Amino acid sequence: AMSGSNLAKERRELRQQEAQEKAAEQAAGFDLHAQWEDPMANPEQRKFASDLRSAQGGQPDTAVPEWKRATQSKDISYGKRTNLTMKQQREGLPVFKFRTQLLDAVRDNQLMIVVGDTGSGKTTQLTQYLAEAGYANNGMIGCTQPRRVAALSVAKRVAEEVGCRLGAEVGYTIRFDDSTGPETKIKYMTDGILQREILLDPDLKKYSVIILDEAHERTISTDVLFGLLKKTLKSRSDLKLIVTSATLDADKFSEYFNGAPIFSIPGKIHPVEILYSTQPEEDYLTSALDTVLQIHLTEPAGDILVFLTGQEEIDTSCEILHERMKALGPNVPELVILPIYSALPSEVQSKVFEPAPPGKRKAVLATNIAETSLTIDGIVFVVDPGFAKQNVYDPKLGMDSLVVTPISQAQAKQRAGRAGRTQPGKCFRLYTEAAYQSEMLPTPIPEIQRQNLSHTILMLKAMGINDLLHFDFMDSPPTNTLLASLEGLYSLGALDEEGLINRLGRRICDFPLAPELAKALITSAEMGCSEEMLSIVAMLSGAQTVFYRPKEKQQQADQKKAKFHDPHGDHLTLLNVYNAWKQSNFNNAWCFENYIQARQMRRVQDVRKQLIQIMDRHHHRLVSCGRNTVQVRKALCAGFFRNAARKDQEGYKTLVEGTPVYLHPNSALFGKPAEHVIYFTLINTTREYMHCTSAIDPKWLVEAAPTFFKVAAGLSKRKKAERIQPLHNRFAAPDDWRLSSQRKQGRGGG
Ligand code: CDP
Ligand code: MG
Repeated sequence: AMSGSNLAKERRELRQQEAQEKAAEQAAGFDLHAQWEDPMANPEQRKFASDLRSAQGGQPDTAVPEWKRATQSKDISYGKRTNLTMKQQREGLPVFKFRTQLLDAVRDNQLMIVVGDTGSGKTTQLTQYLAEAGYANNGMIGCTQPRRVAALSVAKRVAEEVGCRLGAEVGYTIRFDDSTGPETKIKYMTDGILQREILLDPDLKKYSVIILDEAHERTISTDVLFGLLKKTLKSRSDLKLIVTSATLDADKFSEYFNGAPIFSIPGKIHPVEILYSTQPEEDYLTSALDTVLQIHLTEPAGDILVFLTGQEEIDTSCEILHERMKALGPNVPELVILPIYSALPSEVQSKVFEPAPPGKRKAVLATNIAETSLTIDGIVFVVDPGFAKQNVYDPKLGMDSLVVTPISQAQAKQRAGRAGRTQPGKCFRLYTEAAYQSEMLPTPIPEIQRQNLSHTILMLKAMGINDLLHFDFMDSPPTNTLLASLEGLYSLGALDEEGLINRLGRRICDFPLAPELAKALITSAEMGCSEEMLSIVAMLSGAQTVFYRPKEKQQQADQKKAKFHDPHGDHLTLLNVYNAWKQSNFNNAWCFENYIQARQMRRVQDVRKQLIQIMDRHHHRLVSCGRNTVQVRKALCAGFFRNAARKDQEGYKTLVEGTPVYLHPNSALFGKPAEHVIYFTLINTTREYMHCTSAIDPKWLVEAAPTFFKVAAGLSKRKKAERIQPLHNRFAAPDDWRLSSQRKQGRGGG
């Protein structure tokens, strides 16, 4: 395996090489920052430059571009009044003063970084300015968002501002949901979507400008796109790239992008008074809700924003707040309580953007989605308990889990900043100042350093990038994570002995699914049960859950759900639900009666259709196994053999590392545990719960992954069949196929 000193050596070489490349680029006139503003220069000077710009004011361009006028004239009656206020709203945004300068800067630079506070108009305005200046005339303007909700809601807003139907000139694409059409000029999408597109077309010929928005979030996809787009820019001199950030890590971005110029948009930030807890809070949730009520009863007008960690917590808190408000009686002024998180249906989401009725106060309970990706106007009070849910990957255990972790100082500042957008505000930090100083990291750890990279690595390999150690990451992923992910792909059969992508790997890559799910689907076609597996995979990827379980009717809901339970576990239970719905002719009333969420089911159906298209394209058979559903569970093993567990006294232990895991009370197997199971994912709440669990025969594991499992030696025949051991010896495989296949391939390759 790659030793530490080897790694250091490669890093040194890499740095030398980079310096050489940079010198060569500069000699060739590829010196981006010489022309405009030197980001490395004295920050005071930079501030001065931007002050000057504000003093000058903007020269708004009143010309309406061709494609925009066309859509407006279609709908004049609607256009008149709304467009006027829209226009005023647009012109009131901080970014508007810099419209001309921004366009000049884009003209003069192939790549630049734009920094501005949340709400300054980067996401909604830059795309429109560019389209108005003609950049959409030959190619689309693409803008990436780390979150699906943000892509969707921003596209909606911009379509409104432009005055077109969503999906016409302005559209969005998120996984399994593409609204764009032939007319689309401005396309909002998740960074994951652009990552897939660049795999198919490394030159991104469809686009004239790419905006990598919210780059400070540092998602894996954005980080990978950084490296890939750097190359694309060299081969396409006409392509423009704008990287935007809401925080001050812009210098780091600029350094990475060969000293690209930084354009800062000064915000209209009002002072925010920060209040810390005097001692550590025992229960952040209770004290968050207490604080909301205290603000409501004692503070002057202004909306409240509370940062919580997830959907369940937010839903429960909304209920508690409602009840506590009711208990306070009719003399207390009304509080409009609104949740916002990714899984919320979009009509409900848009409610948080509407102002509260006159004279009323709004309290928004949000996940960290409201930190930077969404702007809610009118917030004056922020309640920050200091936590967020993070996806964390443990390469040693080979598993991902969502864990509630303290936020970073940068995130705390972002949260506080939300209070000062319209007037001076207050931020209530439910942690001590000492905790802020000593327990919080200055900035969050980028995803690429804390998550499973199998999916990403497979995509890079499909693009011919095998040299992962030399890939131009802004922050390199830990070597152990790279090794564990490579090993995972190898045991899945997606890589060959040399670590290069093989035919199966390419087929897996064609599905917008986690590699394990794609493998199970491909295998199901060979095992004669792809109709069934398609339904299961669509249920797992199309919806978080299709079961509806309202607080006051949990018992009825659970009884209805139990009717679908399959004795072999949850995967087949999901299949039963889908099939029963199909039998009902996809009927809504049926969903209602059975406590199934109709909207989620329709999404599942849509995802299933899209997956069939991919199956067809690659000539994977569509076959049903009828009642012989044992095939389905075998095919699942082909993807999820790593997620196998064996019964232990209390719960289960994973076969791979012996980690204790438990059946979730909502599992079809709860109370009737099987000896061996596989699960879809782990959910870490009070303990590690298996989510979606099915009974298996351990022999199937050996059949599914002969390089990964073996039958234990030295036992009697009967015992042997039950004792399955992991075969692999992690981090100690031959030097050859892991990180170093580039030696045979030559550097780069893509
Ligand atoms: O990207 P940045 O944070 O700089 O700002 P933005 O998202 O472009 O938001 C600018 C303004 O657009 C906000 O202040 C909101 O008033 C409005 N907006 C909205 O009404 N609905 C959205 N979905 C997004 C933005
Ligand atoms: Mg934005």
